[in-house]
Amino acid sequence: MTTSVFLTREIPDEGIKMLKRAGLKVEIYEGDKLIPRRELLRRVKGKDIILSMLTEKIDKQVMNAAGPSLKMIANYAVGFDNIDLKEAAKRNLVVTNAAHPNVSETVAEHAIALIFALAHRIVEADHYTRNGKYKGWEPQLLLGTDIVGKTLGLIGAGRIGGLVAQRLSEGFGVKIIYTDVKRNTAFEKTHRATFKTQTQLLREADFVSLHVPLLPSTHHLINDRAFSLMKQTAFLLNTSRGPVVDSAALVRALKKGKIAGAGIDVFEGEPQFARRKTDADYLQHAWNVILTPHTASATVETRQAMGRTAAENILAFVRGKKPPNQIISKPLSGT
Ligand code: GLV
Repeated sequence: MTTSVFLTREIPDEGIKMLKRAGLKVEIYEGDKLIPRRELLRRVKGKDIILSMLTEKIDKQVMNAAGPSLKMIANYAVGFDNIDLKEAAKRNLVVTNAAHPNVSETVAEHAIALIFALAHRIVEADHYTRNGKYKGWEPQLLLGTDIVGKTLGLIGAGRIGGLVAQRLSEGFGVKIIYTDVKRNTAFEKTHRATFKTQTQLLREADFVSLHVPLLPSTHHLINDRAFSLMKQTAFLLNTSRGPVVDSAALVRALKKGKIAGAGIDVFEGEPQFARRKTDADYLQHAWNVILTPHTASATVETRQAMGRTAAENILAFVRGKKPPNQIISKPLSGT
């Protein structure tokens, strides 16, 4: 029987073409918008494979709705906190992510872009200029801060963190400090990075950049205590997952001037900017904050690569091979 794949949303075309060329029956939720939950539950019924976005919670209810035909969930994202892995494992489902190396490169570029935009007050300056406020050169107009020679504190020394470290240390002489669940001597050697406890790192870094997955242990990792340790001149960058930062604590820190600003691509309560409406309103109007709508991996090249990766995982599984980006594994005997 032909293997059926349900895509919860339209993605760039290359991955879809690969699936179709291989003869799979591909059904896509039409309209290029977020699939309503009820529609998701209806459409997954009887499918062999779900190709999901990070915006859908793939939990017991969805797996039940799909029924016994479901064998695989291929996530169109590197993070997979939207999938109930325990429930998937109970059902022997194969789960994969879209961890193409391009994604790390692109997210690292975005984190760096936020660092530069914050340090040089680019968004604020653009707004100032285009709104007719520029009346002539001034010695103290929109003073920012240099990046050269500063200290970058990486929380999470994985691939993305490593790329941010490499670009900023080699290009701008930035000193790299990092913290992680354990020391990584290869990372230290490659990036001339120094391991610190989280407390030390928060005290010393001029830019604190988060590169950890969302886990119970990283939920609200950056909270009131963390902000109280940071320098008043320091910036926070979050391109990981929203709930890694306590959004109420972030707003308290910004209001009290405990940090200089923040670059935020992911939000607690996404697509809202914060858990509480009043905090979201504050962030929306704060000039020392740059907000991007979870677009850190949003380049043409990377989003195509993610689609191809999802398709490669699916095709490997269908052909009885181990998908290259398998997260949990108890493959069944083919489809
Ligand atoms: C994006 O956030 C991803 O996990 O790919």
